Amino acid sequence: MHAPVLAPSLLAGDHAHLAASARTVADLGIWWLHLDIMDGHFVPNLTFGPETLAALRRSGSKLFFDTHLMLSEPQRYVEAFAKAGANLISIHIEPEYDTLGTLRRIRELGCQCGIVLNPGTPPESILSVLSQVDLVLVMTVQPGFGGQAFQPEMLAKLKTIDTWRRSRDLTFRLEVDGGIDLATAAECRAAGADTFVAGTSFFRAKDQAAFAATMARL
Ligand code: DX5
Ligand code: ZN
Repeated sequence: MHAPVLAPSLLAGDHAHLAASARTVADLGIWWLHLDIMDGHFVPNLTFGPETLAALRRSGSKLFFDTHLMLSEPQRYVEAFAKAGANLISIHIEPEYDTLGTLRRIRELGCQCGIVLNPGTPPESILSVLSQVDLVLVMTVQPGFGGQAFQPEMLAKLKTIDTWRRSRDLTFRLEVDGGIDLATAAECRAAGADTFVAGTSFFRAKDQAAFAATMARL
């Protein structure tokens, strides 16, 4: 079982001072930073692009960039995000494109790769790529916006994927994203999750160090 990892989502940071928000994360001894990339098409919102990652690197950030592409055509952008400094690139299973080929390309580019499922997408849809990924991201809200309520129905999906992981001797990380706070993270941990994206709950926490310490003990 992987040790728990907290991945604060920069979406909930200060968009006028993203480097400062990333520094807050690093200064707490957290290693991962979750970067939400939206195209206004696969999801009804827009965020930032590869140039933002490159600028964060230029500002000195050494965090592990966990890059979540919410794009209709992710295959067109993986190279740009890899060159900009992504460490892990996750792509959704729902759009029509060469998913397996794109996962392979992400690895060729020197990054880890992940596959993502929306709340309405059945776990069986990722069975054929499970052995090819470093991470499975189970969306626990409909992607597009921070600050939404956790969907408890996703706990069963986590258990299913965790069971497949064990029975097939696979070692991918199992990440959750959306409405994660200390309480919902504990429920997800019990269902098999080991990697926890937290936007609102982390950036609005009164004591971020205590929040990170509790997450590390999950
Ligand atoms: C939602 C994004 C999430 C978002 C989570 O579309 O994928 O990463 O930042 O935000 P919270 O933690 O506020 O639900
Ligand atoms: Zn995300």
